[in-house]
Amino acid sequence: DEWREHGAAVGTRTETDASGKAHTKTVKKGVKDFSFGRTLGDGSYSTVLAATDRQTMKEYAVKVLDKRHIIKEKKVKYVNIERDTLNRLTEHPGIVRLYYTFQDERSLYFVLDLASGGELLSTLKKMGTFDVECTRFYGAQILDSIAYMHSRGVIHRDLKPENVLLDRDMHTKITDFGTAKILPDPKPQGAGNDMVPGNPTDGADQDRANSFVGTAEYVSPELLQRANACKASDLWAFGCIIYQLLAGRPPFKAANEYLTFQKILNLEYTFPDGFPPLARDLVERLLVLDPANRLPVEHIRNHPFFEGVQWGKGLWRQSAPKLR
Ligand code: ADE
Repeated sequence: DEWREHGAAVGTRTETDASGKAHTKTVKKGVKDFSFGRTLGDGSYSTVLAATDRQTMKEYAVKVLDKRHIIKEKKVKYVNIERDTLNRLTEHPGIVRLYYTFQDERSLYFVLDLASGGELLSTLKKMGTFDVECTRFYGAQILDSIAYMHSRGVIHRDLKPENVLLDRDMHTKITDFGTAKILPDPKPQGAGNDMVPGNPTDGADQDRANSFVGTAEYVSPELLQRANACKASDLWAFGCIIYQLLAGRPPFKAANEYLTFQKILNLEYTFPDGFPPLARDLVERLLVLDPANRLPVEHIRNHPFFEGVQWGKGLWRQSAPKLR
């Protein structure tokens, strides 16, 4: 009984009895409460479908996972990680929100925010590259979302433009927490220090989360060398993403994974001609081999590349710049 349900997946329904008295019942959402539509995405263990809540007509993206396949392929742990991390990250506009989970005999269902703009990667491919203004806009939202998940003790470990979705307003939503790591609670004396500039734990042993390799091109050197990920590993990936938005390709890319890993470990990458100098300075401070020497979130916010960005709630009220 791996997926015994735990309280979150509920709605309310008001019914009137024979005497005319109203009773509001708490009712768990289930498959029957949704009408399913087009396929939004296909993974090896799941399919994402557009779905509408029949009562509210609100649209969602529903991730459907095949239980037999997940058990056979020993992926139960990753499904649970995804549910547990998403349940920790419900208070931020830049992260795909998990509303309900339920199951039937065959499948598990995750009812998520619908991000109707699709993957940031698709938009980037259509455009080729982004200009500085677009890179600043999308980069700032991704960074704000990373700061939030780190403050909630979650390391994503597989950040890349495929895992950054866009909603109808072209605001970003980070998805795919199947390989995330929940860090142990910080010591009481250190509580709430996550946002302090240069927090010494940001690249240190305390935050280590071991043994996983995400996507070759975005994987950090510490993960390759010591099978250790920390918060700063997500900032390495963030540096790769900023580079990719401006250059149209990730900084470390080779014919196969082995050669890509070698390039990463040797910090072997170059900037194309005309790469904006402030962005170059930022990327050079993020693509640093020692995670302890990588620019922490607070310093990234204050980097001249992000000058003029309204951090916090205002960031999510801004309309997206015209793509160019
Ligand atoms: N593809 C995968 N997850 C999605 C989501 N939440 N919204 C739209 N498309 C998706």
